Amino acid sequence: MTACDLAGDWLIFRPGAPCEAWSGPKMCLSPYGRRDCPLRCRLIPRPFLMNRPAPIGLKDVQAVYSGPEGDLWELVMGQQIHIGGFRSSMALADRAGIPSGSSGVDLCCCNGAGMRFLVRFRGVAKMHGVDATQKVVERGRARCQAEGFCDRISFTLGDVCRSGLPPSEADFVWGEDAWCYVVDKPRLITEAVRLVKPGGLIVFTDWVDGPGLTTPEAERYRAFMKFPNTLGIDGYVALLTDQGCEVLVAEDTRQFAAHVDLYLDMLNRQLTYDALRIIGFDMPLMESLAAEMNFLRDLAHAGKIAQGRLVARKNA
Ligand SMILES: C[S@@+](CC[C@H](N)C(=O)[O-])C[C@H]1O[C@@H](n2cnc3c(N)ncnc32)[C@H](O)[C@@H]1O
Repeated sequence: MTACDLAGDWLIFRPGAPCEAWSGPKMCLSPYGRRDCPLRCRLIPRPFLMNRPAPIGLKDVQAVYSGPEGDLWELVMGQQIHIGGFRSSMALADRAGIPSGSSGVDLCCCNGAGMRFLVRFRGVAKMHGVDATQKVVERGRARCQAEGFCDRISFTLGDVCRSGLPPSEADFVWGEDAWCYVVDKPRLITEAVRLVKPGGLIVFTDWVDGPGLTTPEAERYRAFMKFPNTLGIDGYVALLTDQGCEVLVAEDTRQFAAHVDLYLDMLNRQLTYDALRIIGFDMPLMESLAAEMNFLRDLAHAGKIAQGRLVARKNA
């Protein structure tokens, strides 16, 4: 056989061979995308494919955060799975002026680290998190219990586009580097605005497109990250404005590229064994993931992808 093909949940890569297994370009799409790809024909698990025949959906994202990819992100980023960790959360809370004693909803809260940060360091009275991945919600509940926050932090397992939470109760809605995973962003923003009180705040950071990002570049990095689509900062401004919000902050945090450098450095210099353990000691797979991270780094240094910070107020 010379063509790449799908075998159950696996894709057999044959570098340079015509690929009939997916809808992308008709050549093998190994991370290297070239005939001199160092990978040899081998099996790669579907969760790590960089291009996929079907559009990315919530199930793909749940698979990431239920499996090794999610564990890899936590290895390099820590419990706060967003760029800049504690410092980024603090800057976001400062820019929004989150008051102590307030209550908030974290949309795509993952294991709840952002909520524990807000309660512990910003004096927030109560947080409620929504996330669609059972594994991270269970992990979050256990961590909140271990840190004694069960009475102040609660979780809903579900899609943030239809949280089922009561309208107009929260002082603010919070999100950190997670809304890039949501398929229907207009619906997400509508839900965020629905949840806050009149005059309340929508406060978030996210991975955003920068100027000059080409369609092939966007497709490659989204496929690697499992983002169904991404917006520029202006795209979020438009969605918030359409929902009758006043946008107070819309800026590039300018910390993205340095952090991708940091993650690569950590993986290359300190955490290699731990990362390999998480992915079953599959060295070629590790190399392919590193190649995609290098691609991300190049996009970030060119300003083609960035971390956006937005704060908007719902009309009173
Ligand atoms: C990068 S993690 C969030 C990290 C978290 N905000 C933090 O700062 O630690 C992304 C999370 O988004 C969740 N997610 C993605 N799409 C979702 C959706 N439509 N509804 C609910 N959760 C979703 C995933 O399950 C995952 O836990």
